[in-house]
Amino acid sequence: MVMISVSFLFVVFNALIVPVYSQTCQGTAVYAPCSSNSACGCFPMVTADNFGVCGFLWLTCARLTPCQGTNDYCEQPDHVCVRHPRCQNQPVCYPLQMIDQRVCPPPTNIPVDTTTPLTTTPEITMTTTAPFTETTMTTTVSFTETTMTTTIQTTTTPSASVKPADNICATATWSKQGITVAGGGGTYGSAYNRLNYPDGIFIGKNQTVYVADTDNNRVMKWVKNATVGVLVAGYGGSGTNSSQLRRPKDVVVDGDETVYVTDHNNNRVQKWLRNSFRAMTILNLANSYGIALDDEETLYVSASSGGYIYQQRKGASKWESIGNNGTQVQHITIDKNGAVIGVTTQFKQVLIKHKNQTKFYYIADGSEEYFLNPSFDPYSAIVDQSGYVYALERSNNRVTRWSPGAKTGTVIIGGRGAGSAAEQLNSPTDITFDDEGNIYIADTYNHRVQKFLINKSSCN
Ligand SMILES: *[C@@H]1O[C@H](CO)[C@@H](O)[C@H](O)[C@H]1NC(C)=O
Ligand SMILES: *[C@@H]1O[C@H](CO)[C@@H](O)[C@H](O)[C@H]1NC(C)=O
Ligand SMILES: *[C@@H]1O[C@H](CO)[C@@H](O)[C@H](O)[C@H]1NC(C)=O
Ligand SMILES: *[C@@H]1O[C@H](CO)[C@@H](O)[C@H](O)[C@H]1NC(C)=O
Ligand SMILES: *[C@@H]1O[C@H](CO)[C@@H](O)[C@H](O)[C@H]1NC(C)=O
Ligand SMILES: *[C@@H]1O[C@H](CO)[C@@H](O)[C@H](O)[C@H]1NC(C)=O
Repeated sequence: MVMISVSFLFVVFNALIVPVYSQTCQGTAVYAPCSSNSACGCFPMVTADNFGVCGFLWLTCARLTPCQGTNDYCEQPDHVCVRHPRCQNQPVCYPLQMIDQRVCPPPTNIPVDTTTPLTTTPEITMTTTAPFTETTMTTTVSFTETTMTTTIQTTTTPSASVKPADNICATATWSKQGITVAGGGGTYGSAYNRLNYPDGIFIGKNQTVYVADTDNNRVMKWVKNATVGVLVAGYGGSGTNSSQLRRPKDVVVDGDETVYVTDHNNNRVQKWLRNSFRAMTILNLANSYGIALDDEETLYVSASSGGYIYQQRKGASKWESIGNNGTQVQHITIDKNGAVIGVTTQFKQVLIKHKNQTKFYYIADGSEEYFLNPSFDPYSAIVDQSGYVYALERSNNRVTRWSPGAKTGTVIIGGRGAGSAAEQLNSPTDITFDDEGNIYIADTYNHRVQKFLINKSSCN
């Protein structure tokens, strides 16, 4: 456990979690005016050409630490790497609190351009637990320095890998009515409260939902109960440069909040350090599709062509092929024993490859039999601690649950035709658990992520 103490100026905390927006500046010189608050100026971002953030100019240099590594990243949460030559020649980490629009509001004489789609105007967003009080909002130039110390705890070996709790018993049930936890609103869109054909989903700490927002060419993060998402990867619309994505299909996030994305149409896998505008390519792979992370932070990637699954152990630079069943594999997941679970839409099967074995088996029974129902149509599947398989069937708009070895499954969610009601799905593509055993589904044609609450009252 490492303890870091960080001091901020004039921050007054309350318990609310609200998304806030930072003011940005483009094509402007360092320190150029960018806000109706004359105490704010433009700080060019190191990771983005010609793009900067509008921040409070007069933070004490001593409070700003240099950015790290060759990629100029900030280890402290909620900091961005900017140029600030008055303080240091080297880029420094600037707190997002100081580039909040409530500190540096947009210039009053420049109308806010609402016609530009959000995806072409990179906007740094953040979630903060520290909204400013009325007094700091109306102050324009001088702030009174009342220092407050925040203690940030980071564990040395963090893991964001979420597994369902052990107590999903045989008789557990799930609510039939889904709750929308990301997107929705009856339509697709590119505003931050909308999604556009979302595909892979990942649940991080505190039930934070990460979504591969495929047709918006971006990855969004929705904290619990949020009504608007935060952009975490994919800036500037569809494209091939290091800020961009083209039809991303799946996402995982590690304990450092590094985001890994299968950038499907760019045939690569991208790694985005927290708050970074640019990604690194960590694997070139035709039709990269599914991605998973195990408890040891080994990454696994599948492709919807070729059939190979690759793994990269934490800290290693090399990728190894861990098997080829000769089929297309869409979404993948890792069970508690380290087995890789994959789905092949080509053969309409759920596959399992046990740790340290090369052979794939069809589940649920470990034999080589197909599920006997010819209409079985899995697109993504998960397995709980007792070995129950949960298959998300895309064209059947339902989830079926299969006890270990069973030849028939039980419909637990959906199965009421394609539709947008709370108990319906429309061409869903991905399924996952949170650590309580609640089920989340990427309800793709409804442009939303649905959460189905677990009911364990019959478990003991
Ligand atoms: C999760 O919530 C706890 C308590 O509110 C908070 O301290 C922690 O920072 C949160 N973690 C993440 C990754 O959001
Ligand atoms: C989310 O909303 C539920 C229900 O309104 C509430 O009980 C819970 O405390 C909220 N959680 C957070 C993190 O805001
Ligand atoms: C990538 O292209 C977009 C759109 O043209 C642009 O906004 C962004 O700055 C570019 N990123 C890099 C790293 O060049
Ligand atoms: C898999 O192999 C590794 C290294 O060869 C070994 O340490 C580990 O115990 C094996 N795991 C299982 C489940 O057999
Ligand atoms: C894929 O796995 C299944 C189940 O074990 C097996 O029947 C099939 O032959 C495998 N295909 C290849 C090409 O290995
Ligand atoms: C949970 O399941 C029990 C039956 O096992 C049922 O009586 C109860 O109403 C359910 N609770 C909810 C909130 O649906």
